[in-house]
Amino acid sequence: MARDHIEYHIVQDMPQTPLMDKDAATGFRIAELSRDHETGAVSYFGSLAPQWIRRESGYYESDAEFLVMRGDLKIGDTVLSAGHYCFLPGGCLLGESFSDTGCELFMMFDGPALFTEANKDRADARTDLRIDHVDAKGMPWGEPPAHPGRPAEEAPAGLGVKYLRVDPETQAYTLMVRQPDGWFDPKLERHSIWEELILLDGDYLMGKMGKVNAGCYIFRDGIIPHGPQVSRHGSVWFGRGPGPIDFDYMDEPWARGLVEQYLNAKHIFNGEHETGPWGSWL
Ligand SMILES: [Fe+2]
Repeated sequence: MARDHIEYHIVQDMPQTPLMDKDAATGFRIAELSRDHETGAVSYFGSLAPQWIRRESGYYESDAEFLVMRGDLKIGDTVLSAGHYCFLPGGCLLGESFSDTGCELFMMFDGPALFTEANKDRADARTDLRIDHVDAKGMPWGEPPAHPGRPAEEAPAGLGVKYLRVDPETQAYTLMVRQPDGWFDPKLERHSIWEELILLDGDYLMGKMGKVNAGCYIFRDGIIPHGPQVSRHGSVWFGRGPGPIDFDYMDEPWARGLVEQYLNAKHIFNGEHETGPWGSWL
């Protein structure tokens, strides 16, 4: 596995360092969440200062995905605000970029996060796959589809899914998943592909790692079993994977006990849905 197993970061607690323009610090600050040591693929949580600007047009050399959590980011003529998502295939031309009120966002690159100044698309850019703007927060939830190892009717009841993108060549996916109040899956699961997960909203118990809330970041090779999984008052995850996901389930005798213990731990909850720094994404 070329990326280390990260389980877990709390992204808003991580120190951010400024991107440099020659020797000068810019108002673009980032915390590195995970990095592929072979390909240079990398994920960041970052922030832009109010009135930050990059006047040069150009493109990222690798496919890039942004999820805006707070504030605004204008790329060319497109304004992204909180809850908006974009997919920018490597080599697709981007106009001037600007933030009016400042911005917090997740940025995920499928290769080195290099920006090349240019005034036209790179010749091999997959421009047909470009998604300039999706209101990820506002779009409706759908039913979970069938996956190898998990027919749709065997998904634990109540899950909602939003697909933001599926790559037509690789079936790499980016999605959001919602768990309702009291949702749980007492089994452990694993996959043949890696998973990158960000808890956007709510409370969650993932196996033995204890209760987590919005801002929890995980990068995990699929072969690592994980679970049980529980949410007391509902949760929303953002997730990515490099191909079609599959499920391989395991029963562990201790897992159901963890589920019951969490759901019954009334003293650690205040009885309401726990939104984080970015409000409700339910
Ligand atoms: Fe999983």
